Amino acid sequence: MLKSVKNPKTPLKGEITIPADKSISHRAVMFSSIAQGECIIRNFSSGADCHSTLSLFKKLGVNIEFIDEKTLKIISSGKLKPDSNNVYSCGNSGTTMRLVSGILAGENFDSILTGDESLSRRPMKRIIEPLTLMGADISSIEGHAPLTIKGKELRGIEYVSKLASAQVKSCILLAGLKAKGETSFEEPYLSRNHTENLFKYLGADIKIQGNKVTVKPSVLEAKNIDIAGDISSAAFFITAGLIIKNSNFVIKNVGINPTRAGIVDIVKRMGGNIEILNKRLISGEEVADIRVQYTDSLKSCTIEGADIPRLIDELPIIAVLASQAQGETIIKNAEDLRNKESDRIKCLVKELSKMGVDIKEKEDGFIVTGRKDLIGGCELESYHDHRLAMSFYVAGLICQNEIAINGFEWTNISFPEFENLFSRLIQ
Ligand code: S3P
Repeated sequence: MLKSVKNPKTPLKGEITIPADKSISHRAVMFSSIAQGECIIRNFSSGADCHSTLSLFKKLGVNIEFIDEKTLKIISSGKLKPDSNNVYSCGNSGTTMRLVSGILAGENFDSILTGDESLSRRPMKRIIEPLTLMGADISSIEGHAPLTIKGKELRGIEYVSKLASAQVKSCILLAGLKAKGETSFEEPYLSRNHTENLFKYLGADIKIQGNKVTVKPSVLEAKNIDIAGDISSAAFFITAGLIIKNSNFVIKNVGINPTRAGIVDIVKRMGGNIEILNKRLISGEEVADIRVQYTDSLKSCTIEGADIPRLIDELPIIAVLASQAQGETIIKNAEDLRNKESDRIKCLVKELSKMGVDIKEKEDGFIVTGRKDLIGGCELESYHDHRLAMSFYVAGLICQNEIAINGFEWTNISFPEFENLFSRLIQ
């Protein structure tokens, strides 16, 4: 689908509520499916990725039904049952494939996990290697899906990861729930900790020391879960508010877990006008409302090291923000961006350059020199990548000439409400 986007030439005003966090939605369904009992999940994501997780656990015999559009009831015996053909699709979702591998590796049945074209290109060695050390039997096509998992008894390991990755960490911790002995995972920087928070909330035996987390064999309790709004979705609105003249609005119910809120710190570092209001806690996660106002004097910054896992999914939209900041914004140590739904370094640089952004590709990131007017008047490719499509849309709102985005329907992967919410703020 080709989507035209033009500069509304009007500020964004009003109030919106951001839909559910994708990472927490996945985990809520997975963890409730392996817990024994009944629970209600409120404010579940409507994105296609989370629906891939949901369909997969239904196939594994878990009783999941919608009470209303965003509320799920899950009843599980705590034991997964293999489907007759043993093949489970993860769609486009890396989180589904990597976390579910950790669950299925320790089952007493075999399974095959498949993905779409993009997911089948993404690296799976990062989970196959540590799971194999735990005694798992997984075969792949040179480290790529489909993954054939033969259920085995697992043993705990002490794993020191070179990569800061919540998907790898969560996979290993999930496998650790059923492994013999203790399982620990240590990473160079702290990645998002929703698994740790939910494990604690659901009664798992878990210990956290800095960037190291240790789990002992545990059975999760079935408990109701309320899901916070997604800061990665809010990031598109935060950026639009900062760069569209005279904008001033509130984004309600945004998860501000410190391992995810890197975008807020970066906006502050860049001098952006952002306020965190009404902080509260829901199901073990911090939530707030965010007021954003147009800022005429944004300045560049360097984003690297421990910053990166705290805003890994926001880097495409940060490139758009940086295009309106004075000076050079430098992104380093973000080479894993090349392994996302697309090669986000190469594709971002190619497409934003077409619009008139001064952006240069680096092996492990990119450099944006800001304060150039965006000309637009071009067609952009989304490369089947939801976050690229949404980033280009926001850039389109400040271009002089209309742009068109090819493959805009990929926004449905994480955020089907995206365009609708924008139209509510455009006066
Ligand atoms: C996610 C972790 C991140 C992120 C992805 C969701 C998760 O990936 O990019 O969109 O829910 O655990 P990595 O852990 O591979 O960095």
